[in-house]
Amino acid sequence: MARGGPPGGGPIVVPSLTTPAPMLDPLLFHDWHPVAESRLLAPGTIHPFRLLGEEGIAWRSADGAVQAWDDRCPHRGSRLSLGRIVGDRVVCAYHGWQFDAGGQCRLQPAQPREVPPRTACARRFHAAEAYGLVWVSLGEPARDLPPVPEHTDRGWRVVAGPPQRVATCGPRIVENFLDMAHFAFVHAGILGHPDHAEVPDYQVGPFDDGQGARGMRGVVATGCFAYQPEPSLTVGADASMVEYTYRVLRPLTAVLTKLAQEPAFPQAISLHVQPLDAETCHAWMVMSGIDAQTADDELLARQGRIFEQDLQILESQRPKQVPLEAGVEVPQRADRLSSAYRRMLKAAGLRYGVL
Ligand code: FES
Ligand code: CO
Repeated sequence: MARGGPPGGGPIVVPSLTTPAPMLDPLLFHDWHPVAESRLLAPGTIHPFRLLGEEGIAWRSADGAVQAWDDRCPHRGSRLSLGRIVGDRVVCAYHGWQFDAGGQCRLQPAQPREVPPRTACARRFHAAEAYGLVWVSLGEPARDLPPVPEHTDRGWRVVAGPPQRVATCGPRIVENFLDMAHFAFVHAGILGHPDHAEVPDYQVGPFDDGQGARGMRGVVATGCFAYQPEPSLTVGADASMVEYTYRVLRPLTAVLTKLAQEPAFPQAISLHVQPLDAETCHAWMVMSGIDAQTADDELLARQGRIFEQDLQILESQRPKQVPLEAGVEVPQRADRLSSAYRRMLKAAGLRYGVL
């Protein structure tokens, strides 16, 4: 009987792992991405997530720290997310191997008196918590988490919403967040009005996130004004022009700040896109600087309704990737911010979600 190889002597085809090949974008592979809400990651629970085509699990070890691992048991490749947490260990559902918080297997129940080999180890990812979210880097993080001082330095209440699933590429979602010209149409009656569709000129410049050589050259837009018709959101119950600032910190992170005279609206909203795979994302929003009267649920519900309005447009855009070359799409002057964002992506060498 022939050993190895299919009949005919062709190459052995190794079946792929449970997941498709990871998306090859070094920039994103070595960056941080949100994968879960901190408050939902209770001790004793395993939270499966998807990131850049990889499947992972997040869980909390006894010291309260978040752990993030490949969702694959090194024994026979079954999903660790089918298992459970016992004490400070992840127990695989298939043969009961027990892994400590460092990922090392400490017990193989079929041979309980033997010390498991060092190779019996789960693949670990870097994990952190910030802004009410759990963040993961699949590779070696090239820089720190994107800094959003509005969420950390001002003592403001911070509300992180559940993610919105969107069937498109991350840069399309960021561009939509940066886009002032759609308020009058997509969000008529809430964030804009068709009779006030003109976008006044605004300034765009480079943004330095303060992380030195480990940071990234971003983009900032100041002097952005939009007509806001919803009376309950404005001072004096009148419609008014509100002033915004946008800054783009990373290819998939942007922050919108509003001037403080609007008590019923968050003063800072950050958007963080988690790419699940090549053309599906989770869009996460974190809000801070919220008036005491507005409950978290109310705020999240309103933000969710606004995002629902964007969803259909976002998923309709073709191609799903953002074209970086001129001539594929026709920009207008109001798009100066998204044009600067496209230049930023090109300079950073992003491969994911762009053409
Ligand atoms: Fe996990 Fe066997 S596959 S213990
Ligand atoms: Co919108």
